[in-house]
Amino acid sequence: MPATETYADTSNKALIITVDGPSASGKSSVARRVAQVLNLPFVSSGLVYRGATYQAMRYGVNPDDEGALMSMLEAHPIQLVPNRRGNRLLADGKDVTEQLHTREVDALVSAVSRHPKVRGYVYQRLRELSPPFVVEGRDMGRVVFPDAAYKFYLTARPEVRAHRRSPERDGDLETILAEIIRRDQADIAQSIPAADAITLDTSEMSLEEVVNEVISRTRTRQ
Ligand code: DC
Repeated sequence: MPATETYADTSNKALIITVDGPSASGKSSVARRVAQVLNLPFVSSGLVYRGATYQAMRYGVNPDDEGALMSMLEAHPIQLVPNRRGNRLLADGKDVTEQLHTREVDALVSAVSRHPKVRGYVYQRLRELSPPFVVEGRDMGRVVFPDAAYKFYLTARPEVRAHRRSPERDGDLETILAEIIRRDQADIAQSIPAADAITLDTSEMSLEEVVNEVISRTRTRQ
């Protein structure tokens, strides 16, 4: 496969490719690589929720208090800066990306992201971005970009996801698996696939196989 290719869109829909799925399903790696191959920007929606959670931790806001979270975000906004290789998240104008994939943020992010007003705030940040792009998340295809040209939903067995995640986190495999299962439950409402998404079970697939599958489906499903 060539490193970059020009992507020709023949539909009249906005050129948005959504890649949704549960935590550690591989959606970030897949979306990033697909974006790179198609020479499109990559957008990580989870990073925005992580940024909101980081700010809540930093300013001591109770993650169950929706009103307090919204006041805090108004006073201390977050901004997503997408690019082809990765995304940066600015909090109060400062790049905090490296501090967003910790177990502390993992533990609180579901509580912060379940509030409708917080979700509305994040949707606005995402809808401000101009297509084309590849975006990954939970509800990108169903809720945020229902008119996206191509929608994918990645799944994998929880044990496989725990294995994939373990190099990125402290802690033993069993703890990581338990956290994944807990987060699946906590995020269940926003993790419903779009009716028109293509679902891929990636349990037995390598990253490159999933990327190739996604790219070939965008070519055949014009
Ligand atoms: O994909 P991730 O693990 O970085 O996402 C972090 C959390 O953000 C996840 O637990 C649920 C929430 N999230 C969400 O509710 N909706 C999205 N579109 C993306 C993430």
